[in-house]
Amino acid sequence: MLNEKLHFYIEGLIPARNPLFMEMESYAKKHNVPIMELAGIETMLQLLRIHRSKKILEVGTAIGYSALRMASAIPETHIVTIERDEERINLAKEFIQRSGNGEQIALIEGDALEVEETVSGYAPYDAIFIDAAKGQYKKFFEIYAKYLTEDGMIITDNVLFKGLVAEAEIESKRTRNLVKKIDEFNRWLMNHPDYDSVILPVGDGVAISKRRGGRK
Ligand SMILES: C[S@@+](CC[C@H](N)C(=O)[O-])C[C@H]1O[C@@H](n2cnc3c(N)ncnc32)[C@H](O)[C@@H]1O
Repeated sequence: MLNEKLHFYIEGLIPARNPLFMEMESYAKKHNVPIMELAGIETMLQLLRIHRSKKILEVGTAIGYSALRMASAIPETHIVTIERDEERINLAKEFIQRSGNGEQIALIEGDALEVEETVSGYAPYDAIFIDAAKGQYKKFFEIYAKYLTEDGMIITDNVLFKGLVAEAEIESKRTRNLVKKIDEFNRWLMNHPDYDSVILPVGDGVAISKRRGGRK
């Protein structure tokens, strides 16, 4: 999103993560697991620290990288995270067990569109992090926003989708359709009557939506 020089400059300033996180980053790179980009996750962690989120819902665990980074950055937080891919669930369980932060994380196995009842059992949430199938963002938001605290915030990753949301022409029909859905979500989100939202051009584009509470 930023020019390449600045992107590498900023990433170069981010201190090395602990050996387990570095191993997870390498695993993700080698096996094409789409974990959150470094500058994006550092931005999100900083927001969660400032917000002091005590309970976080994550939609899209993958191998548990972002869940474990949140658990480590905010030691008093509890994370409920949803994943539907069996192989990734098993890897996430392994990494969570090795991390020693297992008591902070509840992994819900299943499709986020179908596990609302289980998720609601842990509610309310101070923060919700949406990072699963990009075509379904609006649905995830609509299902789970009702479990957010009055002062809660929703963080959504990949809202700029490699910059493609601003491209006039996209060759692949599949990509074009996905970009259209993300663009529709962004427009819907930015005009939502109950949330103040901002899109940050970090990582793959991160939207921060703050619930307005009683104020309209
Ligand atoms: C981008 S990855 C998550 C990365 C993770 N948040 C991180 O940064 O470490 C998205 C994950 O969401 C999962 N996913 C996609 N749609 C889902 C759904 N409807 N329910 C549950 N998991 C879903 C995918 O299997 C994938 O592992």
